[in-house]
Amino acid sequence: MKIRIGIEALGVAVPRRYVDIEDLARARGIDPAKYTQGLGAREMAVAEPGEDTVALAATAARRALEGIDRDSLGMLVVGTETGVDHSKAVASFVHGLLDLPPTMRVYDAQHACYGGTAGLMAAVEWIAAGSGKSALVICSDIARYGVATAGEPTQGAGAIAMVVSANPSILELDVGISGAYSAHVHDFWRPLGHREAQVDGHYSVQCYLDALAGAYRGWKERAIARELVRGDGLVSERLARICYHVPFCKMARKAHVALRRCDLDGDDTGADASFREQVEPSLGLCARVGNVYTGSLYFALAGLLDDQAASLVGQRIGLFSYGSGCTSEFFSGVVAPRAAERIAAARVGEILAARARISVDEYERIMALVAPFDDTSAPGTFRFTGVTEHRRQYTSA
Ligand code: HMG
Repeated sequence: MKIRIGIEALGVAVPRRYVDIEDLARARGIDPAKYTQGLGAREMAVAEPGEDTVALAATAARRALEGIDRDSLGMLVVGTETGVDHSKAVASFVHGLLDLPPTMRVYDAQHACYGGTAGLMAAVEWIAAGSGKSALVICSDIARYGVATAGEPTQGAGAIAMVVSANPSILELDVGISGAYSAHVHDFWRPLGHREAQVDGHYSVQCYLDALAGAYRGWKERAIARELVRGDGLVSERLARICYHVPFCKMARKAHVALRRCDLDGDDTGADASFREQVEPSLGLCARVGNVYTGSLYFALAGLLDDQAASLVGQRIGLFSYGSGCTSEFFSGVVAPRAAERIAAARVGEILAARARISVDEYERIMALVAPFDDTSAPGTFRFTGVTEHRRQYTSA
């Protein structure tokens, strides 16, 4: 008998502060339209050192686990490319901070922005293999390119935690039906010891699009063979919505145009309308947070469901995960009947509304900090407080 596997619950965490992207453009002497229309950005999350990758991950996980029996968990994977130690896993900190059962498999997965998807796929396959337990998969990252660089307006930070289980309430994945594409490219990387990423920005956009074409073709072939979708005409239009990895919102538009080209021989006259219907509804949350590396695809999914879950029940959505370097995967899933109720429990709007807008001067001051400043935690959140005898310390409010 087919086992239904997918996302049962989710929780998000974002830093308490953000910069309005038009303020940032003005401070850099750039036409704000370049950031708002050219990149599709609105706000950029700013993490201070107390809001590190562990603190964000643990906060998101605590929210995802509300109402979940912790003894049902047998696996915890954190996808991240901005860990806090060369050896000790972010997952290990989270496991301790949340006092999770000791009888669990606990580790981090890294491949740039793909790490969270690596964790999700491992969890799904482990459940399909008969583990009899659920998994907690967390994507947590702080995207930094540095002050006054071309990548600056595409920074961001946050975490999203997903409980992955049999008989999921939010999204049932099409297990075993995905397409992957990888290549050894230097589009984006962060040498050991560097706080900021190195990036060949325009080349990275092309690498993303090449990977998308390769991964989508693999998914399409399998989806048609397994009769999930009909194989004639514009196959991508058989997906009610498509969530892309969103380093900046305009990237999702470029991706969607390129995806349709994989299905079409001639001119594309329907790209604008199709983008508005299939993709735009997933970009609202991403535009207000910025790039969350491993989390960006899943922020797109959370934003989409927060907005439209009730009307998407029973419909198939496509998901594209890209990790620079590079590897990628196109996969799909069907929105489950309790999706609207479960996403409402994640209180995404409330979490965003609790943030404070800061000036560009304040953002620059925070970017220069290496130690957390004396600050109290928001209720329900974790916070990094400093290092004692080489051990990182955390507190929770
Ligand atoms: P740039 O060179 O400063 O920008 O950096 P640009 O000159 O290419 O302009 C951007 C867009 O704004 C263009 O639109 C302009 O026309 C438009 P497009 O041609 O692309 O459609 N524009 C304007 N629009 C309206 N009014 C104006 C105006 N002026 C210009 N006045 C770049 C852009 C994305 C390269 C830079 O921000 C960057 O390097 N970002 C970081 C890299 C990145 O996000 N890459 C994405 C693909 S790789 C990926 O997704 C993986 C990643 O998440 C990491 C991981 O996997 O871990 C990054």
